[in-house]
Amino acid sequence: MSTPGLRIHRDADLRRLNTFGVAVRAPWLVEVDDAARLPQAFAAEPIAGRVPLVLGGGSNMLFVAPPAEPVLRLPGVDVRMVDDDGDVVTVYADAGVEWHALVMRTLDEGLSGLENLALIPGTVGASPIQNIGAYGVEIGERIVAVHAFEPATGGNVRLPREACDFAYRDSLFKHEPSRYVVTGVEFALRRGGAPNLSYAGIADELAARGIDAPSARDVADAVIAIRRRKLPDPAVIGNAGSFFKNPIVPAAQADALLAANPRLPVFAAGDGRRKLSAAWLIDSAGLRGYRDGDAGVSEGHALVLVNHGNATGADLLRVARHVAAGVHARHGVALEPEPRLVGATWAQ
Ligand code: EPU
Repeated sequence: MSTPGLRIHRDADLRRLNTFGVAVRAPWLVEVDDAARLPQAFAAEPIAGRVPLVLGGGSNMLFVAPPAEPVLRLPGVDVRMVDDDGDVVTVYADAGVEWHALVMRTLDEGLSGLENLALIPGTVGASPIQNIGAYGVEIGERIVAVHAFEPATGGNVRLPREACDFAYRDSLFKHEPSRYVVTGVEFALRRGGAPNLSYAGIADELAARGIDAPSARDVADAVIAIRRRKLPDPAVIGNAGSFFKNPIVPAAQADALLAANPRLPVFAAGDGRRKLSAAWLIDSAGLRGYRDGDAGVSEGHALVLVNHGNATGADLLRVARHVAAGVHARHGVALEPEPRLVGATWAQ
């Protein structure tokens, strides 16, 4: 079945469309060539009045069951400069563009701002949804506006950054998942801006490389080296990056934990609250490298769950619950998953 610019597949295999590599099939998969086709896609079967599951790179999703709703993908290839004041350059990218390809392309153009976020799996469209962050930068800081299709009105909107409610791994789009389909994002980048070296590991990596006045490209190279060392490559072993958010707790609880565990990494999180290292909590509960069949916790980084081969989403969820229970028993801290769970809820 197909109409120009719109491809509809029945019983689609999603194994290669989720970075956990979970074998799962979708009753319907709809692919649109460009966002202008969305009104048509939403008006026709199989979507027609339903809320589809929008799939980007599938790098932040755990399929515990096949999706009940039709799956929608927006391939998209467009990257263009939309404004240039000589210093700040606004770059627009389609939702379907691969994230790391955008980072490299902007660096090739001599633009800085995305280098700390090199090598994050996924697509541009997913970046504002969970407000991706790494090595001292969150993408919300760089976003000028998010372009989206609004199924309820059939229209397109341009949401300025202030309207997106960005917070740690959080945004408006996470709270109202059925309201918008992100179609593209505008980023404010700079020609030769000062690099962000606030994350100690980056400064250490650059020092080890003998670089004392790093370019944006040097920072990206350092980030890529650190990620390759610490985080498993989804192309080699299925994973979705950090599986848990770093928990944010009241300062008094953080102080008590710190008194009992002086090496626990603790960061200020505003409003008298503190962010704790979930990786450290998991590691200290003895769960790094834990394995149950083909589902497990990475040996290299305790925050990452991995699929050693043929784990199902239910197997991975079981490991996740085991890890959370272990951390709760040892430290009294509740962990929350970062990826979206399809076919299951975390709260039991
Ligand atoms: N640590 C351990 N054991 C481990 C790994 C880490 O004890 O197995 C401790 C270390 O003390 C380390 C600390 O945890 O210093 C923090 O680790 P890391 O620097 O790797 O950062 P993170 O807080 O675990 C967050 C993001 C990552 C991002 C890194 C770097 C979240 C949920 N995760 O991890 O993002 O790359 O910072 O900025 O905020 C992702 O979201 O998928 C992701 C990989």
